[in-house]
Amino acid sequence: MGVTVVDHPLVQHKLTIMRSKETSTASFRRLLREISLLLCYEVTRDLELTTKTIDTPMQEMEAPTLEGKKLVFASVLRAGNGLLDGMLDLVPAARVAHVGLYRDHETLEAVEYFFKAPSDLENRLVIVVDPMLATANSAVAAIDKLKERGATNLRFVCLLAAPEGVERFTKAHPDVPVFTAAIDEKLNEKGYIVPGLGDAGDRLYGTK
Ligand code: URA
Repeated sequence: MGVTVVDHPLVQHKLTIMRSKETSTASFRRLLREISLLLCYEVTRDLELTTKTIDTPMQEMEAPTLEGKKLVFASVLRAGNGLLDGMLDLVPAARVAHVGLYRDHETLEAVEYFFKAPSDLENRLVIVVDPMLATANSAVAAIDKLKERGATNLRFVCLLAAPEGVERFTKAHPDVPVFTAAIDEKLNEKGYIVPGLGDAGDRLYGTK
Protein backbone atom coordinates (compact mmCIF):
# COMPACT_ATOMS: atom_id res chain seq x y z
CA MET A 1 0.00 0.00 0.00
CA GLY A 2 2.52 2.54 1.18
CA VAL A 3 2.93 6.27 1.18
CA THR A 4 2.61 8.65 -1.78
CA VAL A 5 4.28 12.04 -1.47
CA VAL A 6 2.45 14.41 -3.80
CA ASP A 7 5.41 16.42 -5.05
CA HIS A 8 3.56 18.48 -7.65
CA PRO A 9 5.28 21.90 -7.87
CA LEU A 10 2.05 23.78 -7.09
CA VAL A 11 1.54 21.71 -3.93
CA GLN A 12 5.13 22.31 -2.80
CA HIS A 13 4.96 26.05 -3.52
CA LYS A 14 1.67 26.49 -1.66
CA LEU A 15 2.91 24.38 1.26
CA THR A 16 5.94 26.64 1.69
CA ILE A 17 3.68 29.69 2.01
CA MET A 18 1.52 27.81 4.54
CA ARG A 19 4.54 26.90 6.65
CA SER A 20 5.68 30.52 7.04
CA LYS A 21 4.62 32.02 10.34
CA GLU A 22 3.97 35.32 8.52
CA THR A 23 1.08 33.78 6.57
CA SER A 24 -2.33 35.07 7.67
CA THR A 25 -5.27 32.91 8.73
CA ALA A 26 -7.16 33.89 5.56
CA SER A 27 -4.27 32.88 3.31
CA PHE A 28 -3.61 29.67 5.26
CA ARG A 29 -7.26 28.64 4.88
CA ARG A 30 -7.35 29.45 1.17
CA LEU A 31 -4.08 27.62 0.50
CA LEU A 32 -5.22 24.52 2.39
CA ARG A 33 -8.34 24.45 0.26
CA GLU A 34 -6.29 24.86 -2.92
CA ILE A 35 -3.84 22.09 -1.93
CA SER A 36 -6.70 19.80 -1.01
CA LEU A 37 -7.98 20.01 -4.59
CA LEU A 38 -4.62 18.75 -5.81
CA LEU A 39 -4.40 16.03 -3.14
CA CYS A 40 -7.95 14.97 -4.00
CA TYR A 41 -6.95 14.68 -7.67
CA GLU A 42 -4.14 12.29 -6.65
CA VAL A 43 -6.07 10.17 -4.15
CA THR A 44 -8.92 9.61 -6.62
CA ARG A 45 -6.65 9.02 -9.64
CA ASP A 46 -7.41 5.28 -9.90
CA LEU A 47 -11.16 5.29 -9.17
CA GLU A 48 -12.99 2.76 -11.28
CA LEU A 49 -15.05 3.89 -14.24
CA THR A 50 -17.94 2.32 -16.04
CA THR A 51 -19.87 3.75 -18.98
CA LYS A 52 -23.40 4.97 -19.52
CA THR A 53 -25.34 5.89 -22.63
CA ILE A 54 -25.94 9.61 -23.06
CA ASP A 55 -27.10 11.83 -25.90
CA THR A 56 -24.80 14.70 -26.80
CA PRO A 57 -26.37 17.41 -29.00
CA MET A 58 -24.72 15.51 -31.89
CA GLN A 59 -25.34 11.82 -31.24
CA GLU A 60 -25.61 9.02 -28.72
CA MET A 61 -22.43 7.81 -27.04
CA GLU A 62 -21.15 5.50 -24.34
CA ALA A 63 -19.50 7.91 -21.90
CA PRO A 64 -17.33 7.20 -18.84
CA THR A 65 -18.82 7.68 -15.39
CA LEU A 66 -17.69 6.75 -11.88
CA GLU A 67 -18.53 3.20 -10.86
CA GLY A 68 -20.01 2.17 -7.55
CA LYS A 69 -21.53 4.01 -4.63
CA LYS A 70 -20.64 7.60 -3.77
CA LEU A 71 -17.41 7.80 -1.84
CA VAL A 72 -17.15 9.12 1.71
CA PHE A 73 -14.81 11.80 3.01
CA ALA A 74 -14.19 11.30 6.72
CA SER A 75 -12.96 14.47 8.39
CA VAL A 76 -11.04 14.19 11.62
CA LEU A 77 -12.29 17.26 13.51
CA ARG A 78 -11.49 19.97 13.60
CA ALA A 79 -8.51 20.55 11.30
CA GLY A 80 -9.73 17.87 8.88
CA ASN A 81 -12.46 20.28 7.80
CA GLY A 82 -9.80 22.47 6.19
CA LEU A 83 -9.02 19.64 3.77
CA LEU A 84 -12.64 18.52 3.46
CA ASP A 85 -13.85 21.77 1.87
CA GLY A 86 -11.58 21.47 -1.17
CA MET A 87 -12.30 17.75 -1.53
CA LEU A 88 -16.04 18.50 -1.67
CA ASP A 89 -15.39 21.16 -4.34
CA LEU A 90 -14.07 18.34 -6.57
CA VAL A 91 -16.46 15.58 -5.50
CA PRO A 92 -19.62 17.45 -4.51
CA ALA A 93 -21.79 14.31 -4.36
CA ALA A 94 -19.54 12.60 -1.81
CA ARG A 95 -20.95 11.60 1.56
CA VAL A 96 -19.27 12.97 4.68
CA ALA A 97 -18.34 11.38 7.99
CA HIS A 98 -17.16 13.41 10.99
CA VAL A 99 -14.86 11.92 13.58
CA GLY A 100 -14.37 14.16 16.60
CA LEU A 101 -11.07 13.47 18.30
CA TYR A 102 -8.96 15.73 20.43
CA ARG A 103 -5.39 15.24 21.49
CA ASP A 104 -4.89 14.98 25.25
CA HIS A 105 -1.96 17.38 25.63
CA GLU A 106 -0.46 15.36 28.50
CA THR A 107 -0.62 11.85 27.05
CA LEU A 108 -0.92 12.82 23.33
CA GLU A 109 -3.60 10.08 23.11
CA ALA A 110 -6.67 10.64 20.91
CA VAL A 111 -9.94 11.02 22.83
CA GLU A 112 -13.20 10.59 20.87
CA TYR A 113 -16.06 13.04 21.47
CA PHE A 114 -18.16 12.74 18.29
CA PHE A 115 -18.80 10.23 15.50
CA LYS A 116 -21.32 10.42 12.67
CA ALA A 117 -21.02 8.52 9.39
CA PRO A 118 -23.19 7.05 6.63
CA SER A 119 -24.56 3.68 7.77
CA ASP A 120 -23.32 1.62 4.79
CA LEU A 121 -19.58 2.26 5.00
CA GLU A 122 -18.83 -1.30 3.89
CA ASN A 123 -19.95 -0.48 0.33
CA ARG A 124 -17.99 2.73 -0.10
CA LEU A 125 -14.46 4.02 -0.52
CA VAL A 126 -13.69 6.08 2.60
CA ILE A 127 -11.06 8.83 2.29
CA VAL A 128 -9.99 10.03 5.72
CA VAL A 129 -8.64 13.59 5.90
CA ASP A 130 -6.54 15.18 8.65
CA PRO A 131 -3.79 17.72 7.84
CA MET A 132 -1.11 16.54 10.31
CA LEU A 133 0.06 12.93 10.68
CA ALA A 134 2.16 13.54 13.79
CA THR A 135 2.07 10.77 16.44
CA ALA A 136 -0.65 9.14 14.28
CA ASN A 137 -2.73 8.55 17.42
CA SER A 138 -5.77 10.39 15.99
CA ALA A 139 -5.40 8.91 12.52
CA VAL A 140 -5.10 5.36 13.86
CA ALA A 141 -8.06 5.89 16.22
CA ALA A 142 -10.19 7.37 13.41
CA ILE A 143 -9.46 4.42 11.12
CA ASP A 144 -10.05 1.93 13.97
CA LYS A 145 -13.48 3.46 14.49
CA LEU A 146 -14.37 3.55 10.77
CA LYS A 147 -13.33 -0.10 10.39
CA GLU A 148 -15.38 -0.98 13.49
CA ARG A 149 -18.36 0.61 11.66
CA GLY A 150 -17.79 -1.53 8.60
CA ALA A 151 -15.35 0.37 6.35
CA THR A 152 -13.00 -1.95 4.46
CA ASN A 153 -11.73 0.26 1.65
CA LEU A 154 -9.91 3.26 3.11
CA ARG A 155 -7.31 5.85 2.14
CA PHE A 156 -5.71 8.54 4.30
CA VAL A 157 -4.84 12.07 3.13
CA CYS A 158 -2.79 14.57 5.09
CA LEU A 159 -0.77 17.67 4.35
CA LEU A 160 2.31 16.94 6.46
CA ALA A 161 3.59 13.77 8.07
CA ALA A 162 6.34 12.96 10.57
CA PRO A 163 8.41 9.82 9.93
CA GLU A 164 7.30 8.52 13.36
CA GLY A 165 3.64 8.99 12.41
CA VAL A 166 4.06 7.27 9.06
CA GLU A 167 5.72 4.30 10.75
CA ARG A 168 3.06 3.92 13.43
CA PHE A 169 0.21 4.40 10.95
CA THR A 170 1.48 1.95 8.36
CA LYS A 171 2.12 -0.66 11.07
CA ALA A 172 -1.36 -0.23 12.55
CA HIS A 173 -3.17 -0.08 9.19
CA PRO A 174 -0.96 -1.57 6.45
CA ASP A 175 -4.01 -1.86 4.19
CA VAL A 176 -4.61 1.92 4.12
CA PRO A 177 -2.55 3.94 1.61
CA VAL A 178 -1.33 7.35 2.77
CA PHE A 179 -1.14 10.48 0.60
CA THR A 180 0.81 13.49 1.90
CA ALA A 181 2.37 16.66 0.51
CA ALA A 182 5.59 16.16 2.54
CA ILE A 183 7.29 14.04 5.17
CA ASP A 184 9.16 16.31 7.58
CA GLU A 185 12.20 15.71 9.75
CA LYS A 186 10.73 14.56 13.06
CA LEU A 187 8.35 15.06 15.96
CA ASN A 188 9.43 17.26 18.84
CA GLU A 189 8.96 16.34 22.51
CA LYS A 190 5.47 17.91 22.50
CA GLY A 191 4.32 15.85 19.53
CA TYR A 192 4.59 18.69 16.99
CA ILE A 193 5.98 18.11 13.53
CA VAL A 194 9.22 20.00 12.82
CA PRO A 195 9.87 22.04 10.84
CA GLY A 196 6.12 21.66 10.28
CA LEU A 197 3.72 24.58 10.27
CA GLY A 198 2.60 24.77 13.90
CA ASP A 199 -0.89 23.83 15.04
CA ALA A 200 -2.95 23.34 11.87
CA GLY A 201 -6.31 23.86 13.63
CA ASP A 202 -5.17 27.09 15.28
CA ARG A 203 -3.72 28.43 12.06
CA LEU A 204 -6.81 27.46 10.08
CA TYR A 205 -9.32 28.99 12.48
CA GLY A 206 -7.24 31.80 14.02
CA THR A 207 -7.50 30.39 17.53
CA LYS A 208 -4.81 30.44 20.23
N1 URA B 1 -1.03 18.70 15.02
C1 URA B 1 -0.74 19.92 14.52
O1 URA B 1 -1.64 20.72 14.26
N2 URA B 1 0.55 20.25 14.30
C2 URA B 1 1.55 19.41 14.56
O2 URA B 1 2.71 19.76 14.32
C3 URA B 1 1.24 18.14 15.09
C4 URA B 1 -0.06 17.81 15.31
